[in-house]
Amino acid sequence: MHASPLFARAVARLLCRVDAALGQPAVLDFVDMGAGHGELVTGVLAALPADVAARVHGYAVEIAGRPAGLDRRITWLNEPPESVTGLLFANEWLDNVPVDVAEVDSAGVPRLVLVAADGSEQLGKPVAGADQDWLARWWPLPAEEGLRAEIGLPRDQAWSSAVRRVARGLAVAVDYAHTVDTRPPFGTLTGFREGRETAPVPDGSCDITAHVALDACAAACAPGAVPGTRRTPPDAPCTSPTGTQHPSGTARALPAARLLTQRAALHALDINGARPPLALASTDPAAYVRALTFAGEAAELTAPGGLGDFAWLVQPAGIPNPLEPGAPPPA
Ligand SMILES: C[S@@+](CC[C@H](N)C(=O)[O-])C[C@H]1O[C@@H](n2cnc3c(N)ncnc32)[C@H](O)[C@@H]1O
Repeated sequence: MHASPLFARAVARLLCRVDAALGQPAVLDFVDMGAGHGELVTGVLAALPADVAARVHGYAVEIAGRPAGLDRRITWLNEPPESVTGLLFANEWLDNVPVDVAEVDSAGVPRLVLVAADGSEQLGKPVAGADQDWLARWWPLPAEEGLRAEIGLPRDQAWSSAVRRVARGLAVAVDYAHTVDTRPPFGTLTGFREGRETAPVPDGSCDITAHVALDACAAACAPGAVPGTRRTPPDAPCTSPTGTQHPSGTARALPAARLLTQRAALHALDINGARPPLALASTDPAAYVRALTFAGEAAELTAPGGLGDFAWLVQPAGIPNPLEPGAPPPA
C-alpha cells in the first residue's frame, strides 16, 4: 500500500496523459478500485492541474463503507461504474480478491486445501473443472508432495470484468505479482494485522493476501477470452488489437496489455530517484529541500528488490499505451 503523495502525483500524471490521449473529454473518470479509505483518489484529485481537476469525476470502489469526512466530490460505490472514460486504477486490489489454494498430496494429485477458522488445514477434493484447467495453463504443479499453488481464476474474472467497464482510456493493476516462469513453489498466502505479517488465519482478525498471477489476468482480457473456460487464448496475453465486446453492446478496440515493473512505469512518468542539482541549494534552499524529499520518496518507490519490483499491468482501451515512449505529453 503506498498512497504516498508522490505515488498519487505519479497517478495524476498518468491520468493527465490519458486525458490528452482521449482529447480532453468534458468528463474524465478516475476510478480507484479497492480504494481502502480513499487515500489514492483523494491524493490524485489534489495533485491534478486545476483545468483537469475541474473535469474529473472521482470514484472510489470499495466493499467497505465510505469513511466519514471524505471529499464530497468523490462518489463511493461497491462496483465500478458501468462505463468509464478515463483511468481505472487498482492498487493492491487483486491480491485481496480471495483464491483457493491447491496442494499436491502424497500420490502427486493437487487437492484443494480446506482451512478451519483456527487456521488448521486438511486436504479436500482433487482440483477439478475450470480450476484444474487454470492450474494446467498458468501454474502447473509437478507431482511432488507439498507443492502449492493459488488458483487465480477469481482474479482473472474480477480483472476482466473491471477492464470491460473501460469504454475508452486505461486500466492499470498494481500488485506484487509473479508470472508463469516465476511462480513460488509453495505460494505466497500471508496474513497482515496492523501492517505486520501474521499467519493467514481466516477468522476475520487479519487481511489475507496472495501475490497475483498478473499474466493470467492479462490473458483474461484478450479478445474472445472467457475466464474459467477454455476460451482463454493459449499464449499471447492481450496482444491482439482486434475489437472486443463492451457491456453496452458496442465493440471497442482493446490494444495490447503490457506488464512492467513499477520502476519502469514510474520512470516512464519521469519519476526517478535523481538528486536535485546542488546549485539549487544556494539559489532556492526551500525548493532544494522539497526536491530532495521528492527524490528520496522516488528512490523508495522505484527501488529494485523493494517497491520498484511491484508489477503494473497496463491495459489501454481505444488509446495508445500512455507509458510507451512517444506517448503524447499532456497539453
Ligand atoms: C490491500 S487493500 C488496498 C487498499 C488501497 N488500494 C491501497 O493501496 O492502500 C485492498 C482493498 O480492496 C478492497 N476490496 C477487496 N475486494 C473488493 C471488491 N470485490 N470490490 C471492491 N473492493 C474490494 C478491500 O476491502 C480493501 O480495502
